[in-house]
Parts: sequence; structure tokens; C-alpha cells
Amino acid sequence: MNPIVYALLFSLVAGLTAAEKSDYCLSEIVKSDERIRSHGYPTETHQVTTSDGYVLTLFRIPYSHKLKNQNENRPAILLQHGLFSNSDCWLSSGPDNSLAYLLVDAGYDVWLGNARGNIYSRENNLISLNSHKFWHFDWHEIGSIDIPAMVDYILAITGQAQIHYAGHSQGTTVFLIFLIMRPEYNAFIKSAHLLAPCAYFGNGSSFIFKLLVPLVGEPGGLWNQLMVDTELIPHNNLVNRVVDNSCHMSNTICNNAFIMFANGGYVNSNASSMSVLIETHPAGSSSNQGIHYLQLYKSGEFRQYDWGTKKNMELYGQELPPDYDLSLITAPTHLYSSNNDALCAPKDVDKLVENFVNLKEDYRVPVQSFNHLDFIIARNMKELVNDPIIERINAYEGR
Ligand SMILES: *[C@@H]1O[C@H](CO)[C@@H](O)[C@H](O)[C@H]1NC(C)=O
Ligand SMILES: *[C@@H]1O[C@H](CO)[C@@H](O)[C@H](O)[C@H]1NC(C)=O
Repeated sequence: MNPIVYALLFSLVAGLTAAEKSDYCLSEIVKSDERIRSHGYPTETHQVTTSDGYVLTLFRIPYSHKLKNQNENRPAILLQHGLFSNSDCWLSSGPDNSLAYLLVDAGYDVWLGNARGNIYSRENNLISLNSHKFWHFDWHEIGSIDIPAMVDYILAITGQAQIHYAGHSQGTTVFLIFLIMRPEYNAFIKSAHLLAPCAYFGNGSSFIFKLLVPLVGEPGGLWNQLMVDTELIPHNNLVNRVVDNSCHMSNTICNNAFIMFANGGYVNSNASSMSVLIETHPAGSSSNQGIHYLQLYKSGEFRQYDWGTKKNMELYGQELPPDYDLSLITAPTHLYSSNNDALCAPKDVDKLVENFVNLKEDYRVPVQSFNHLDFIIARNMKELVNDPIIERINAYEGR
């Protein structure tokens, strides 16, 4: 097995058993706002507090210094990252290729979200970071609590009546949940663009599914109870040192480390963009997020977290968790998926399309080797993904 896989699995176990969770040393990394500023763009940092006390950081690129459009109408867009990721994923390929900058230079007001638990959103006004209670959340809460809080905030600050949305991977799952659990928000979404859309996992081909499914045990079982509510793959010095050394040793190992979850090769990837990502990834998330995805892989359904029969009865009033009802999503939604995605496989996208009653568009990237992470780091993602997104958003704006 790849040594990086070992290192990450080791750190997973280390993370699970660590009595105390040391915080990140944010001063040692280049944060999203500094990265944005280093390319000459204006940037702002905002904090939004959710109803359950999490303090979420939103980075904003309000206008383009190239267009000098600060006094013009600038429609707002929220970009939401994937699992283990953070706002840097929208920046790592720089101004000529990454979506955040391309949108700003197309005249948009760009907001970069950070879900609870990642390196930029590790505060809670009510719960300590070191408490298991801090990690008692899932992407269900990110979708039903964090995203509505971010959307409310952006609407209030910008004075816009609606915003656009784009998400990658888990950033697509949370969007679906956002509108399913809070359908009154459909009216506030002008258009949505879901990259590597993840709802069904039954056909996932990544080895990571087979490897980890037995590790997490049965819902509600003893072993499973040890695994819930804890930090998954913390961004700690160990992982970073291993990854860092390996990257100096060989680009191939470095590449493998960052696509191990996607497991789809790296013919399209931009190695420099990856080394930018390494600085702040993996970015911290709850074990429940990983476990919930594994449950979807096992069940082949898109449904709420499975706590085991007893707790399911208490929580949901039924033995199995309820399905997410995709018919509640009415905001115009475009899917962008690819053939070589080992996590959110083409057949599972077919299933999503089939059940997505009001889906606007099912776009498939025309390059067969394009994989899950390529939406964030491919050399050819501008032509294949980002330009098409902007073209569609412009059409909604009559531009
Ligand atoms: C690759 O990433 C680097 C580092 O961010 C960036 O400067 C460069 O423009 C990117 N190239 C492509 C083709 O994506
Ligand atoms: C795999 O995909 C097919 C086609 O979309 C779907 O009918 C089937 O339910 C999926 N399999 C599993 C195990 O989820």
C-alpha cells in the first residue's frame, strides 16, 4: 500500500485517540485572505455565527482590481468546498485558472464559505473545541444550518435579492440538503452549479470505500459509538511533515496523497496547484461526515444519518433514516460531473439525475480521464468547467 495512505490512516487513528486536540497554528500558513491579497485582489474576512454557536469564516473578494467595478452592480456568489477541504480549494490554481478569481474578473462579488470544523471555522461560542460535543455534527448540519446562515448573511450585507451558488463534492451534498431541509430558501438561489455532485454512492469505485466500511462498524454498535463525534484526519504536523517530505522526494507520491480519496490518476492535475493545497489540507472535519458517506455507499440511498434502530426510532420515528426528498429542490441547478470520478461515480450521477425532478442541466465533462479532484486542480479545468459555469451564470444575469 502507498505510504501516504498508511500515514493518513495512522493519523486518522491518532486523531481518534488523541485526548486533547491541539489547535492549528494559523499564523504558520498562508490563509485564504493573504493568498487573495498576494495576487492584488481586495479581500474581506467575515464571521457568521450559527444558531448552535459555530463561528464560520467567510472570505470575500468583493470586486476586481482589474475591472475597478466597486461601484457597479455585482451579483453575489457563494462557493462551498468539499470534505477535508476549505476555501483555499477555490484559489489554488491562481487568478488565471481558479474559479473564485475568474468569477471576480467576470464582475461578481465572490464569497468563499468554510464549514464548521475546518481550519477557518473552529470556534463555537457555546462548546469548547476539545469537547466531543464540538464534533457532534455531520454534513446534514452543514447543509441545514451553516449554509442558510451564510446565505442570510450574504443577502444582508450585499442587499441582493438572490445569490448564485457553486459547490464541489461535499459542497454539493450540503447544497441539496440545504434546499431539502429549508425549501423556503429556493427563492433566494438564482442558480446553482454542482461540481462532482455527490448524493448517491452505491456505485463508488474508490478503494477507500471498501477499506473504510468495515472500520466504522454497524450503526449504533459499540465500535461505531467510539468513532462518532470526533475529529477526522486532523490537519496536524505529522500528516503535513510526511506529505511535505514526500513531496520533496517525488511528485508522484505527492500527487497520490492528494488524490487518494478520488483514486483516479493525475493526468490532468496541476502539480503546483496541489502543493498550494497541501499547506492547508486536510482541513478538519467530523468523523460523522465520513461515516455518513460510508453509510450511503452501503445502502445505495440518499438519506439521513443512521444512528441504529433504537436511536433512529427516537429521532426519526422510524427504524431506518428518512430519505432526502430531492423533489423539494426547485432553484435552477446545473450538475457538472465526470466519467473518471471514483467517489461520485457516473452511474450514481445517473441516479441523482433520475431522482432530481426539477434539474436544469446534466453537464458531463467531455474529457474521459477527468476525476473528482480535477474540478479543483486540473490544468484544463478552466475550459472544461470554469468557463462553462461563468457562461451559464452570465446568462442568468442577462450578460
Ligand atoms: C497551476 O497552478 C499554479 C499555482 O497556483 C498557477 O500559477 C498556474 O497558473 C496553474 N496552471 C494551470 C494551467 O492551471
Ligand atoms: C448504481 O447505479 C445504477 C444506475 O444509476 C442504479 O440503478 C443502482 O441503484 C446503483 N447501485 C447501487 C448499489 O446503488
